[in-house]
Amino acid sequence: MPSSEQSMFSKIALSAVSILLANLRHLLSSLMQFVPGKTNLPSKSHERQFTRPTLQCISPLLQTVEETPEPIPAKIKGHIPEWINGNLLRNGPGKFEFGEEKYNHWFDGMALLHQFQLRNGMVTYQSKFLQSNSYLINNQHNRIVVSEFGTLAMPDPCKSVFARFMSRFDPPSKRVSKKYKICSWKMHIHFSVLVPLWLTWSQFVANSQQNGAEPTFFFSGTTYNIIEVPPQKSNCNETLEGAKVLCSIAPTDNMKPSYYHSFGMSENYIIFIEQPIKLNLLRIITSKFRGKPISEGINWEPQYNTRFHVVDKRTGKVLPGQWYTKPFVTFHQINAFEDHGCVVLDLCCQDDGKTLAVYKLQNMRKSGADLDQIFGSVARTFPRRFVLPLNVNSDTPVGKNLNPLSYTLAKAVKDSDGKVWCTHENLHPDGFENFGGLEFPQINYSQYSGRRYRYFYGCGFRHFIGDSLMKVDVETKNFKVR
Ligand SMILES: [Fe+2]
Repeated sequence: MPSSEQSMFSKIALSAVSILLANLRHLLSSLMQFVPGKTNLPSKSHERQFTRPTLQCISPLLQTVEETPEPIPAKIKGHIPEWINGNLLRNGPGKFEFGEEKYNHWFDGMALLHQFQLRNGMVTYQSKFLQSNSYLINNQHNRIVVSEFGTLAMPDPCKSVFARFMSRFDPPSKRVSKKYKICSWKMHIHFSVLVPLWLTWSQFVANSQQNGAEPTFFFSGTTYNIIEVPPQKSNCNETLEGAKVLCSIAPTDNMKPSYYHSFGMSENYIIFIEQPIKLNLLRIITSKFRGKPISEGINWEPQYNTRFHVVDKRTGKVLPGQWYTKPFVTFHQINAFEDHGCVVLDLCCQDDGKTLAVYKLQNMRKSGADLDQIFGSVARTFPRRFVLPLNVNSDTPVGKNLNPLSYTLAKAVKDSDGKVWCTHENLHPDGFENFGGLEFPQINYSQYSGRRYRYFYGCGFRHFIGDSLMKVDVETKNFKVR
């Protein structure tokens, strides 16, 4: 295989791995919705949540479980319509240690695939661990051999007596040199896998990659790539057949590209959001040296504003406009559509980007007031609307709201430096935080993806795990909770 093809193949393969990683959080959260949370509503302010009864401990959900290779009948509450037939597949961490070594972060556990088979009003369940390279090699050695997002794999303590002796008495400079060699190779893998943690949207995949070969990595920096995957394939087993890079976007700081998870897409445009959760490449590359997991190199840096990049889907060209807004974090977009020369973009947003660091297993396994306190430190997620006027040029007046749409209060104002500063409109009424905010948004995709719409659905989070279903009317801002 030519090296360019190999390179492309490896990038695509790594993107696929990253999609799987990205879905762990997603899918586990969905499964965990079966766990009842406290029904007491939190009081109005974020801080006052500490005064309510303690949250239910979810530690039992964060323990290693055995596979269920053969289908077993599931307990059903309520009634499942008989017309629903099919398999519901979910994925989430199901193994949190190998031998005596334990993982640290919720995202680290080994993937357990779950299947719920629905047929004629009945449900069966079975599960199996994904036979990933990490799972197999960890199992083989009965310890954590492969570092994960929040866990650094330690050197093998069972090396030969001679090797252990040497590791104890090596001069420091020599030891550092050896480790750096390993580290630099390992980081090539880790960075490629971790940076694109993020997900597909229709036929498009976004990832971030290093430019060029590893030795030039420090000097060439990074780019965000959006990869187009054709829907038609000649080989159904080759899910990424025909994939190509649609466009490349330069990060604002190429040594600190942003973490991203999903992007918006209207009929003609892709909206890529560069948010201030930053991947500090120097920290990530040196993490093994410093005995730190890669998660320690991912930081909330609100000194950066959030930037929207808009890409023409047909040509792959990045539009020249510069749209900015205040720092926020988004994992999931709700919908995007075009109207009167603008892109309307609806997102689930947090004002604080430290959430990833909170999801350590030691935090999530707490109980009582300690669990309340940890949960109280997590920023709530709220649905917001942004309007990006696309036709901005030197003739566009400065200081004027460029949003022509009467149905939204979102603003977009061109500054004297030519940048457009966007101010969101809340897609919820006051008091929405009492229900924990909303995440994992869904719309009626077949009818309204990329089109003006009225309703979306999501999970309310009065716990680390979703504890309610919500329906929101984006026109009236009214919502229903179950
Ligand atoms: Fe997700």
